[in-house]
Amino acid sequence: MTYRTFDLDAMEKREGYPLFLTAIVPRPIGWITTVDEEGVANAAPFSWFNAICADPYLVGVSIGRRAGRRKDTAANIHATGEFVVNIVGADTVEAMVATSADFAPDVDEIERAGLTAIDSTLVRPPRIAESPVHLECRLERELELGEAAVDFVIGRCVRMHVHERVVADDGRVDAGALRPVARLGRDEYAVVDRVVRHARPPRPDASSS
Ligand SMILES: Cc1cc2nc3c(=O)[nH]c(=O)nc-3n(C[C@H](O)[C@H](O)[C@H](O)COP(=O)(O)O)c2cc1C
Repeated sequence: MTYRTFDLDAMEKREGYPLFLTAIVPRPIGWITTVDEEGVANAAPFSWFNAICADPYLVGVSIGRRAGRRKDTAANIHATGEFVVNIVGADTVEAMVATSADFAPDVDEIERAGLTAIDSTLVRPPRIAESPVHLECRLERELELGEAAVDFVIGRCVRMHVHERVVADDGRVDAGALRPVARLGRDEYAVVDRVVRHARPPRPDASSS
């Protein structure tokens, strides 16, 4: 066997962390918009993000603490109980990365990144008009995980918006039109440009053993 085997717990974080992160790829990106209690909008990307339940529809996002304090996104969700997940298409990668800068809480990052905020329908945080899919979410549960704590936020999707240009003939989202962006390790990203199809094996007949 020519595998290299790692005892992650015995490794320095500066070595283990990038190893861990460059292996779990590609990760979808939740580009999350929130507002603070004064209504100032915030946007930031998070790739420790995924769909985690379908009944009800839940998403989970892991937001690291900064010097022990909640990042603005986590603080706003904690205070207001609401957020919007904007899905990142290939034409907004640069703007998405721009919103990851550590701005002061009173800076409107949507405006700063030259993006267009549009109203949501059920929650106060705005949607990013340049994003083709939006999920309006209400806070379902918050968990504090780990030693250098992260806030794991679980949100219930209460409304979804899909831009006409990415709606397929069957009414679902068309990955080829969406060209979603995923995070790899380092500062690398993948744009889904090639979609392959593989039908799943048929289910065994329920009447046979
Ligand atoms: C593509 C991308 C993915 C990121 N994923 C995460 C993540 O999953 N968790 C996290 O805590 N920070 C992540 N970050 C860093 C945050 O976006 C960054 O800390 C940002 O400043 C947080 O903004 P806020 O303080 O307005 O919430 C990511 C950055 C980029 C560019």
